Amino acid sequence: ERDGKGCFSERLPPKFPGLFQRPGPESRATLKTLNTLGELSMSETDVFPVPQAIADSALINNERYLEMYKASVTDPEGFWAEHGKRIDWIKPFTQVRDVSFDPHDVRIRWFHDGTLNVAANCLDRHLATRGDQTAILWEGDDPAESQAVTYRDLYERVGRLSNALRALGVKKGDRVCLYLPMIPEAAVAMLACARIGAIHSIVFGGFSPDSLANRIQDSECTVVITADEGLRGGRRVPLKTNVDKALADCPSVKSVVVVKRTGGDVPMTAGRDLWYEEITAVQPVDAPAEEMEAEDPLFILYTSGSTGKPKGVLHTSGGYLVYASMTHEYVFDYRDGEIYWCTADVGWVTGHSYIVYGPLANGATTLMFEGIPSYPDASRFWRVVEKHKVNIFYTAPTAIRALMREGEEPVKACDRSSLRILGSVGEPINPEAWIWYHRVVGDSRCPIVDTWWQTETGGILITPLPGATALKPGSATRPFFGVQPVLVDGEGNELSGATEGNLCVSDSWPGQARTVYGDHERFVQTYFTTYKGYYFTGDGCRRDADGYYWITGRVDDVINVSGHRMGTAEIESALVAHAKVAEAAVVGYPHDIKGQGIYAYVTLVAGEKESEELRKELVAWVRKEIGPIASPDVIQWAPGLPKTRSGKIMRRILRKIAENEVGALGDTSTLADPSVVEDLIANRKA
Ligand code: WTA
Repeated sequence: ERDGKGCFSERLPPKFPGLFQRPGPESRATLKTLNTLGELSMSETDVFPVPQAIADSALINNERYLEMYKASVTDPEGFWAEHGKRIDWIKPFTQVRDVSFDPHDVRIRWFHDGTLNVAANCLDRHLATRGDQTAILWEGDDPAESQAVTYRDLYERVGRLSNALRALGVKKGDRVCLYLPMIPEAAVAMLACARIGAIHSIVFGGFSPDSLANRIQDSECTVVITADEGLRGGRRVPLKTNVDKALADCPSVKSVVVVKRTGGDVPMTAGRDLWYEEITAVQPVDAPAEEMEAEDPLFILYTSGSTGKPKGVLHTSGGYLVYASMTHEYVFDYRDGEIYWCTADVGWVTGHSYIVYGPLANGATTLMFEGIPSYPDASRFWRVVEKHKVNIFYTAPTAIRALMREGEEPVKACDRSSLRILGSVGEPINPEAWIWYHRVVGDSRCPIVDTWWQTETGGILITPLPGATALKPGSATRPFFGVQPVLVDGEGNELSGATEGNLCVSDSWPGQARTVYGDHERFVQTYFTTYKGYYFTGDGCRRDADGYYWITGRVDDVINVSGHRMGTAEIESALVAHAKVAEAAVVGYPHDIKGQGIYAYVTLVAGEKESEELRKELVAWVRKEIGPIASPDVIQWAPGLPKTRSGKIMRRILRKIAENEVGALGDTSTLADPSVVEDLIANRKA
């Protein structure tokens, strides 16, 4: 048993002392009343009002937001019946929703008697009006490389790959694993799967062969689409080699399709491996789009939880696309012809919903970036903004914090006058980073949408709308249409007014995940049993007197490292898999750039000696087992771990020590051996 799991009473005090201090209601000097959700008072010092020019021209102003929000929660059927029409249906739906959060009968269905094809919505329906418009604006790792893929190009590439996959025997419902760099072919592969009704499962290119193998095995993928090598920050990533290692253990895989990215020399296994370029060149461009039911699966995406191996979160077709496209349009106030850039990787949900599906369903120009913010230098993001005249820019706080360190010069050196809207996602943004983003990157002109959501939510749930919402640095502000956030205490009692608690959602929205692939019981257990009748997010949250939401971070054993979500249990099991490790406990600790860093306490097998060499070996071991993103930042040798008399590790104490909050360890009287704690404090690693 792991303490703190879903239990607000175990919640930590602010995780980021100093750096992450947020203004509380008590710090407000002047109060004024605004016509937002009910009778609201806001402090002038903390609030950034909607700039008049934006309010006047935006799709949604505050009045409209309040009206639509009210309609969305008082008459969800009517509201979504209307907005469900924003995508093209082959057979229009007549049923809007069929939802139950009752743990004995968790059921989530939207638009379920309608049929559609997601790829046709992202491609075919745009051909007549915008066939020659750029769909994907690709910026390579090397600043000299870029590519504009029009909607017609994209349609043709997707058609060829769809036909090639069909020729390999892939049919509706089959699982296809994508392990690709950030190249247009990643979007092509996603859409080709969607076109033929195959379910894609993207594995981030930074995951190890073992992690890749586990994910392929869990969903029994029959095809893997990869590249010879990836390219990031000038370095090559051995994708195909990783696939070869993973496949030693994946009997379900019959074919591997390999995109030539670098031209690097990679071995091809006869009878299994095929060059993408060769198998697509011989296919026609037109490929009939499979008629899919609204609730047919679109993709699986593995994500970490408190316990066990990563879960294959399953999203379906109709509701997901309605929600991804609607949030993309309204949250970013997207207008035809604008250049929109989300810096995420397609290996994460942000890439699925806000690089590919949302923007393409809306006929947008979506910029796809292969590289990293620091290559060739710290001005790369802003050079790309200048080069492509980016209007909407959506990134993660960890990137902002890293770039903040480099000072204002690299930003100021580039023309950012095209920017209109800025966005943030993945972890709480500390007000200091928010203000820098606003003042330096956006020249104090551009609203920042701090969008809170999760792999499981499919799309953004809590967020400002640029033309409607006065901003408070560090707050994700208010719910999107149809979303009803609820804060509950440790017993599941709903809390009202300005308060703090566990963040739940009381009713479904169309983008919600439907199940965990192959394990519906786990889906029910994880999200619907902690607090009866609610979807439990795993996040803690504060609601202020203005009804604004402030996400305080995870209340479970999930950590968020540079915006990458990881289960501490996964890292622990990687560590204990090493022959010299007897026991390990992993916690997060505040990290200036990453938000949270990985702090591992390791107890060695009797007789093994602690050494710097072994420490390095363990870090390398975890990298190999899971991937570079899981490398521990700190390993502290622990002769013993603090345990209760019944043998449970008291992780609360380990977190405090890692956070250097040793004065506030709380009650240690239930420990079997309190001296363990003294040793850990004395040998704490900075
Ligand atoms: C965190 C990423 C604060 C949160 C889309 C959530 C955030 C987890 C924000 C999901 C935000 C995401 N403010 N925290 N704007 N956005 N989070 O599944 O803890 O990779 O539960 O989805 O990231 O991470 P995931």
